[in-house]
Amino acid sequence: MTPVVRLAGVTRRFGSLTAVDGLDLDLAAGEVVALLGENGAGKSTVVNMLSGALPPDAGTIAVDGRPVAFAGPAQALAAGIGTVHQHYMLVPAFTVVENVMLGDPRTPRGLLDLRAAAARVEAIASDLGLALDPFAPVGSLDVAGQQRVEIVKALSRDVRVLLLDEPTAVLARPDAERLFAVVDRLKARGTAVLLITHKLDDVFRAADRVVILRRGRVEGRHRTADVDRDTLVRLMVGEAMPAPTAEGPHEAATGAPVVRVEGVELRRANGSLAAAEISFEARPGEILAIAGVEGNGQGELIRCLAGLERPARGRIECLGLRSDLPHRWTPRALRRAGLAHVPEDRRRDAVVGSATLPDNHLLSHSFRRPFARSGLIRRGPALAAVRAAIGRFAVRTPGERARIAALSGGNQQKLVLARELEAAPKVLLAAQPTRGLDIQTTAFVRGLLLEERRRGTAVILVSADLGEIWDLADRILVLGGGRGHGPFDRRRTTREEIGAHMVSR
Ligand SMILES: Nc1ncnc2c1ncn2[C@@H]1O[C@H](COP(=O)(O)OP(=O)(O)OP(=O)(O)O)[C@@H](O)[C@H]1O
Ligand SMILES: [Mg+2]
Repeated sequence: MTPVVRLAGVTRRFGSLTAVDGLDLDLAAGEVVALLGENGAGKSTVVNMLSGALPPDAGTIAVDGRPVAFAGPAQALAAGIGTVHQHYMLVPAFTVVENVMLGDPRTPRGLLDLRAAAARVEAIASDLGLALDPFAPVGSLDVAGQQRVEIVKALSRDVRVLLLDEPTAVLARPDAERLFAVVDRLKARGTAVLLITHKLDDVFRAADRVVILRRGRVEGRHRTADVDRDTLVRLMVGEAMPAPTAEGPHEAATGAPVVRVEGVELRRANGSLAAAEISFEARPGEILAIAGVEGNGQGELIRCLAGLERPARGRIECLGLRSDLPHRWTPRALRRAGLAHVPEDRRRDAVVGSATLPDNHLLSHSFRRPFARSGLIRRGPALAAVRAAIGRFAVRTPGERARIAALSGGNQQKLVLARELEAAPKVLLAAQPTRGLDIQTTAFVRGLLLEERRRGTAVILVSADLGEIWDLADRILVLGGGRGHGPFDRRRTTREEIGAHMVSR
């Protein structure tokens, strides 16, 4: 049977770097193929070529046996290839239905029948078992909601191939399971799915076959039924499984709290209640984790702790600054006092894609020595810091002065972490710090958080991954059902107790 999509000898270079090197890959109707590989292996580049965003330098792509050369994403979509990119491409100020219709060639200019379009969006969503309000502004949705919009958008045309680039990186397990239920339905309908992931659970849950990329080349191809986890890890990283990072929770930290949250209430941008009754303290030398199903106030809490917002009620004290006083509750004042922040949404809040690596480093340090002196920014020290980070974190980059957008997602994340740890913070806000990282780098970053704890940093960790929380946290605060629960001592609680608070009403 002719595969729906066939790549033969497909190659893509960026300058001297060969991102994808002579790739052969078939996708058959009703088949789910997982594409695995470490950060920078070339996975998103494959997606970009299949979705018409990038032309290959060599090789051919054929759809239904006919060679194609896409001049842009619209042509790939017209050929039946829908894509949910690693980084979403939505307009936050537009509603769900406006985003879905954006660029649809069946929409005659100026004649957008919103009502009909909304009905179609609802039909697609409910057919897939997804809850989605067509008239919600996309900017008000959490990442899982935005992903639902991307999926509906990708499927709103007659799509026979769906490309999913790290769809589960942003999802908690129950949301991931909902996504796989959608994948199962598509598969039953004969859609071919290419699933990119760093999570082996995803591979064994959803994929029929798995292809492992390393440095742009295929390292292995297996039927999922015939392969085990250790083999996949070895093929991905080229060596044995990294040593487990868990060292177990500590004795309770006893130093004076550096963060105090008292009776805080959090509201979403649209004014609705995210969570109330949140109280906790964080002390030097502990990891306090915030658990919860995405969208239960984690984002709002971190924004308040980072000085980007003030809580609707209650107050936060951090490193001697207070959220209920009129001045100085700003990210800069908090940073000066010793706060560092790894934001959840890298592209929106952590990097400027068009800026170079050193300039991105300066985003957090432009006011402190050695990066600034007498009010002047100094790029030399920033370049030196970037060089050190590239070495320490094994960052794959086209160059020290590259635009950061030219790096793969995981490699950008490594640089954000390096930047935030630069000034030996007293309080570290780490929101989904391992999101999008490969297995080896995840272990490395978890090790960094434990090292920060040893150094005496108060680490506040938000993670959608309960396993990660379990491995790292000393205490766990749960956000669920509109309020805060705990914090619970990790040694005296159970996953069941935490899970029950997560889904409490
Ligand atoms: N537009 C670009 N310009 C220059 N180099 C690029 C560009 N896009 C990708 N690269 C390089 O190509 C390589 C592969 O990147 P790609 O984004 O495909 O990796 P990936 O496997 O998706 O990684 P991740 O798991 O981190 O998302 C990387 O080294 C990256 O720096
Ligand atoms: Mg990628």
